[in-house]
Amino acid sequence: MMLQTTGAFIFADQFLQLSYFLPSNYIYGLGEHRDTLVHSMNWTKFILWNNDQSPKVTIINHLSTAQLQEVILQPAPAITWRTIGGVIDLYMFLGPSPNDVIQQYTEVIGRTFMPPYWSLGFHVCRWGYKTANRTMEIVERIRRYGIPQDTQWNDLDYMDHNRDFTTGISTFGNQTSLVEELHRLGMHYMMIVDPGISNSAGPGNYLSYDLGVKMDVFIKNASGQPLIGVVWPGPVVFPDFTHPKSQEYWTAIAADFHKSVSFDGMWIDMNEVSNFVSGSTSGCPSDSHFEEPPYIPNVSGGKLIYRTMCMTAQQYTSIQYNLHTLYGLLETKASHHFTCPSVYFRALTTILGKRSLVISRSTFAGQGHYGGHWTGDNLSTYYDMYKSISAILSMNMFGVTMVGADICGFSGATTKQLCQRWHQLGAFYTFSRNHNSINRPDQDPGAFGPAFAESTREVYLIRYKLLPYLYTLIHKSHMMGDTVLRPLFFEFPTLVDTYSIDRQFLWGPALLISPALDLDQYTVEAYIPVGYWYDYYTGERIIGTGDRINFTTPLDKINLHIRGGYILPARRSGLTTTESRAYDFGLIVALGVFGEARGDLFWDDGETLDTHEKGLFNMFTFSADQNGVYTNPEFIGYKDDREYLNNITVFGLDKQPYAVTANGQSTTYLYNKQYKALYITNFLLTLLEPIKIAWKFSDE
Ligand code: NOJ
Repeated sequence: MMLQTTGAFIFADQFLQLSYFLPSNYIYGLGEHRDTLVHSMNWTKFILWNNDQSPKVTIINHLSTAQLQEVILQPAPAITWRTIGGVIDLYMFLGPSPNDVIQQYTEVIGRTFMPPYWSLGFHVCRWGYKTANRTMEIVERIRRYGIPQDTQWNDLDYMDHNRDFTTGISTFGNQTSLVEELHRLGMHYMMIVDPGISNSAGPGNYLSYDLGVKMDVFIKNASGQPLIGVVWPGPVVFPDFTHPKSQEYWTAIAADFHKSVSFDGMWIDMNEVSNFVSGSTSGCPSDSHFEEPPYIPNVSGGKLIYRTMCMTAQQYTSIQYNLHTLYGLLETKASHHFTCPSVYFRALTTILGKRSLVISRSTFAGQGHYGGHWTGDNLSTYYDMYKSISAILSMNMFGVTMVGADICGFSGATTKQLCQRWHQLGAFYTFSRNHNSINRPDQDPGAFGPAFAESTREVYLIRYKLLPYLYTLIHKSHMMGDTVLRPLFFEFPTLVDTYSIDRQFLWGPALLISPALDLDQYTVEAYIPVGYWYDYYTGERIIGTGDRINFTTPLDKINLHIRGGYILPARRSGLTTTESRAYDFGLIVALGVFGEARGDLFWDDGETLDTHEKGLFNMFTFSADQNGVYTNPEFIGYKDDREYLNNITVFGLDKQPYAVTANGQSTTYLYNKQYKALYITNFLLTLLEPIKIAWKFSDE
């Protein structure tokens, strides 16, 4: 393919520039930043440089070359790329469909990791619980309201002097028993880990520092001494994740802590890398062309070292100038379980021996192969809630499936209504976590009284019920690179009206989510693509014509529609996924325009590594027509005794049947004439054998 350039290709030592015409005005991606989903071509400038800052318009902090990049979109339409170093490797993924592009891209950068099933449950966190007891009180209050929750998190509160891999027993209390209690409830535990390792505990008092010095794995300054920055614990040094011994080091300190606190995953923060003194405590060399390159785009603070370390800092493979934006990715990689046997070990795999979750603030291309991402310190505002949609959709395009924003907002005090709406939206993030800043009023779903709790419970019961569908989508992403949270144009690439929609999104091809995003909003004007769609709650059929339709959205309701032609596997929700997994499966069948539907289910134990590769999984396919629903075990490699189907809902069955049979035995059913929905219950059949559910109409 020829690039039609719009100017000279410049290839100088610290300045590379490439400009060319684009065949389209619809440009997406370009790293994590605050913008609309589709970018304006009116001289929009993006800077790609990971930085510790809250989301601001058109500032990028993701997916660059490791050196700083600047991208300018122009009306021609055209694009200019600039970078202040490195080489240019251009890959073009030609699709032709948007989904094909992402499949091709993730084939290069690494397919998405397979998260544990529990990590698809609801996560609750805040900075400022202060103690283990308070943390547990919040868990109990959420449970009392019957709201499902799988994972409880702790922020810095648990640490001794804000030091990684320590517990402040006198301040926080007993973290060991907190985690044991959560495990007893079938729940999981995640805690924050920052990269900065305190250097002031004194010799023999702090393994993370002493071992790092002994193994010589800390980043050095230009004179070869450990570079000292300042983060939460005060003065710190930073592990060099490019160092060949860094994995061994990271594993050793994480494993040592895990002996007393059996955490299930890691939340890695501040890894842009963030430093409260720009450069280092002793400054940076003043005469270096890396500290002061000839061209610096308009980065925050006007300097490359702003809130990070010196550009001349030395890592094993190169200097910081060349590696800056890789820090979070490499820390994620070191923290993540890794399934390829040729790689000797990864911290969490070594500790847990099963799948785990790593959620990182800083990311780079390839992040999704090892872990997930949350979108950082958002504000408790309606605008930030709305903006979270473009953020999560863009991250899915970058090959990061496990992604979410802090539900109810991090900074600022949320309000009851905002927080209620945000739980409704956040229940449909792949990574669904309520997180709050320090010194802010409580915003966990138990904090606002019974009516609020009930509506939050309802929406999480829906999420939990649909987790088998979500899990199957995540499996497809892992195997083939499809997006999970999907913009509408991915499914309807010929409908131009879908190209800029960023107030609605899809779970895979079949579940349309149309949240209320504004204050006192009681009607949502939702775009309904061409085809049959069914109201999730009633089964009412909506014939999509590619127009906008008004739906009521009282405070306790989010509008959800299932696309005709699809079958969604479901499972009754328990208080945790551990509990849900004991219940039977159901199917939601949404008949398409020709009275047909299809679906599938990937199922395994939810935590063993490499189940697909080892054949320790089941794959079921489902189909439906005007006469019945049929399930088929395509592959059986995981046998548990709980894979039973006990209910089916069929939307869009125009005529009332007079008899329904399940594998030949008559069974109970209910037909709703108004909405043309058939509910079949009271049968119990194993999915490990083919199932035929058939109905007859009175005129047959
Ligand atoms: C910054 C993170 O973005 C935020 O989520 C966290 O609560 C604070 N650091 C404190 O650890």
